[in-house]
Amino acid sequence: MTDRNQNTLDELKKEATVALAKCETIGSLEEWRVTYLGRRGSISSVMRDLGNLDADSRRIMGKASNELKTHLQEKYEDKLQSVNSSQSENSDLSSFDVTLPGRIPMRGSVHPTTLIVREIAEAFAPMGFRVVEGPEVELDVYNFQKLNIPSDHPARDMWNSLWVEYPNEQNLQPFLLRTHTSPMQIRIMEGESPPIRVIVPGKAFRYEATDATHEWQFTQIEGLAVDKGISFADLKGTLDAFAKIIFGERRKTRFRCDFFPFVEPGAEMSIDCFKCDGHGCRVCSNTGWIEILGAGMVHPDVLRGVGYDPEVYSGFAFGMGAERISMLRHGIDDIRHFYGNDLRFLQQFSQK
Ligand code: FA5
Repeated sequence: MTDRNQNTLDELKKEATVALAKCETIGSLEEWRVTYLGRRGSISSVMRDLGNLDADSRRIMGKASNELKTHLQEKYEDKLQSVNSSQSENSDLSSFDVTLPGRIPMRGSVHPTTLIVREIAEAFAPMGFRVVEGPEVELDVYNFQKLNIPSDHPARDMWNSLWVEYPNEQNLQPFLLRTHTSPMQIRIMEGESPPIRVIVPGKAFRYEATDATHEWQFTQIEGLAVDKGISFADLKGTLDAFAKIIFGERRKTRFRCDFFPFVEPGAEMSIDCFKCDGHGCRVCSNTGWIEILGAGMVHPDVLRGVGYDPEVYSGFAFGMGAERISMLRHGIDDIRHFYGNDLRFLQQFSQK
């Protein structure tokens, strides 16, 4: 009985091995697996018949059929691997059409804020302004105090601040996400002597609700010029030239009084509306004018604070919102597009 069964196992092994060698596809391998190793396959049937044997034969045959099952399983795995790899090699070759044009990878493009910052910096470059950058997390001293905005000054209300370390009595060096790029005026003047002409682009942060024209994080561009004999006429001439480069040769500029604690006198500059040529339309809210920046002559106290003698040196400073300039230039109706990460918006600025 045992010999006969042992012979059956030997034959089964031979038959399965020969059949496996003939399998060249995943499909035929699967058929082989079902025939020999499946739940209703040959090995399972031998194992089911073990119950008819006496105890000794059952032990011997049980061990032998388990060994055969393991052996066939290993052979099957090896074959499956080799069929798999030869099929993928063949399919790579057959599906690869060398005559097809290559796939063009998607290319990123420069962000519209970066584009306008570069454009503005280029407008000022021929007038001798170089670009400088500064810290986005700033000390209270630079963001406010040295700009003539002491701790108890009501002007601080203009810049609802995101404090990193809130000012209190133990903490003498409170710091915050800078609310404007103006602190760089101080850092630059403290670090070098006149003549100074710089443009400072960078992020600014304010704790305020967002809407179509306000973001809590936005980009400002600061400008500063300090030298002997700089007057308000220099301020007007420089900013007028800038407006014509960015908004067109025909643009007129208008300066009106405004208040910033670190300049005296202070001004806001508007351009006549490029959409309606000053006649009044939706873009200029029917006023004919569009406000584009704040500016003024550097306050004598600020100059004194950085160690410059205001009797010898004078200067002007200005600050504008980069996104606002871009919105005007391109007719963008909502500042939130700049921070939405929406490719439909961003791709319109990709330079071909
Ligand atoms: C200032 O921040 C002054 N530091 C500008 C300045 C510099 C004046 C030098 C004088 C001399 P103001 O708060 O107005 O000023 O902001 C300047 C510009 O930043 C605004 O005209 C606007 O375009 C932009 N801006 C201000 N707040 C936001 C905001 N929440 N979202 C987007 N842009 C803003």
